[in-house]
Amino acid sequence: MINYSNFIELATNRQSDRAYTDKSIEKDKIKQILEAGRLAPSASNSQPWTFIVVDDKELKDKVAKATFSKLVSFNKFTVLAPVLIVMVIEKPRVITQIGGAIKNKEYPLIDIGIAAEHICLQAAELGIGSCMLGWFDAKKIKSLLDIPKNKTIGLVISLGYPKSDKKRTKIRKAFDEVVKFNSYIS
Ligand SMILES: Cc1cc2nc3c(=O)[nH]c(=O)nc-3n(C[C@H](O)[C@H](O)[C@H](O)COP(=O)(O)O)c2cc1C
Repeated sequence: MINYSNFIELATNRQSDRAYTDKSIEKDKIKQILEAGRLAPSASNSQPWTFIVVDDKELKDKVAKATFSKLVSFNKFTVLAPVLIVMVIEKPRVITQIGGAIKNKEYPLIDIGIAAEHICLQAAELGIGSCMLGWFDAKKIKSLLDIPKNKTIGLVISLGYPKSDKKRTKIRKAFDEVVKFNSYIS
């Protein structure tokens, strides 16, 4: 576990790690990471998710390959990850479905993103690297993991001990470009 002195330090040090050592992740740490996901807030507390932990090496390699891009060398690093988490979006509570239809909002997509970041931040605190993956062959993963065809996979997250301790400088838009006080045009 890394003792970050405050939240902003943890948030700054969480990064998408795309190279991992051979070391497997201890079961209690995997459970703690998923517990952080379970604790995430969601619209109307619907908790519209199922997290599938894929840690069986043979199966994990197949799921990893389903995240590759055929066009570019994208997501090839996922085979190095000892664990993949597949986040399935479940139907939210009826009240959230009605609210989402009225307000034209995909609340479960927002919810799954929050849970994903809980997972990645908890991993970072434990010294475990992670990367969210939005590019994958959903049909393939559904068939590999017995996920019903009518379900949506929101994200896949790779987990593993990072090959390097080096932290990249964060590339982010300037504070004033993304934060406004009291008016959009301020
Ligand atoms: C919804 C979402 C989808 C992403 N999909 C991928 C992906 O398929 N492959 C990948 O290598 N990184 C993916 N990323 C990671 C982003 O590229 C990364 O978060 C961003 O460049 C910022 O870098 P940082 O996470 O190191 O701070 C994804 C991130 C998010 C939030």
